[in-house]
Amino acid sequence: MNVYILLGFIVCCIYSIHASNQNIQDMRKQLYYDINSKHTVELAKELKDKWCKFNTYNFTIMEALDIIDTVNDASAFADISNHNKMHAYQVAECLRKNHPREDWLHLVGLIHDLGKVMLLSGEEPWKVVGNTFPVGCPFSTHIVYPEALQDNPDANNVLYNTKPGMYENNIGLDKVLMSWSHDEYLYHVLMNHKQSNIPKEGLFAIRYHSCAPLHSYTDYDYLCTQEDLDMKYWIQQLNLCDKFDKHSEINIDDIQPYYETLVQKYVPENLEW
Ligand SMILES: [Fe+2]
Ligand SMILES: [Fe+2]
Repeated sequence: MNVYILLGFIVCCIYSIHASNQNIQDMRKQLYYDINSKHTVELAKELKDKWCKFNTYNFTIMEALDIIDTVNDASAFADISNHNKMHAYQVAECLRKNHPREDWLHLVGLIHDLGKVMLLSGEEPWKVVGNTFPVGCPFSTHIVYPEALQDNPDANNVLYNTKPGMYENNIGLDKVLMSWSHDEYLYHVLMNHKQSNIPKEGLFAIRYHSCAPLHSYTDYDYLCTQEDLDMKYWIQQLNLCDKFDKHSEINIDDIQPYYETLVQKYVPENLEW
């Protein structure tokens, strides 16, 4: 090959990699801008009302795992090769390795992102994926892209922008309204049916796994009960595997039977979503 053609080809490759990285970064930034500037108390109530009718889908946990593999998670732009089903099994296996006796935690790892099935019916990504935070109280400075929070209408609402906002100190996270997301959705699906025997620690980890200011900082401790504070440990365990175990080699066919027994034990029935 002519050396000039080869050089031209290399320059072209470098340029297109740079351009697509830039594109990914821009899309990510826009996603987080939308999340931070648009999630308000009013929207959280509206989306909770909409999705907690549970009249959109009907399928089992194992079916939902196959289904989320077909959706593109907009919060994972930087890691698009990691499909949702593989991610679910990687997180589950990581938790199984770290906590062999807590089988419910392995299942929590497997299902923690299943609320993303909302994307299938056309829900906008910024209402489904990315970070979450309590609404109705001051925003934490540890929220990703905090500069976008100044464009959130709730930031200027005197009812919400000084501690403890619309809550009382140590009211308990269960009484705190969270921005709507796949975390909230799966939690309510499992609670609605009361068919889930997953311990409360597992449900707590599912519900708050995208809220870093809560699980990795003390920013929202003033809203927590002692039990909430104790249960943060389980979100941190989930988070450790969720964020950092993206490349382990896994043969899903080999381990699927183990997870089917866990589903039978903890969430056996068809769920209404
Ligand atoms: Fe998630
Ligand atoms: Fe995840």
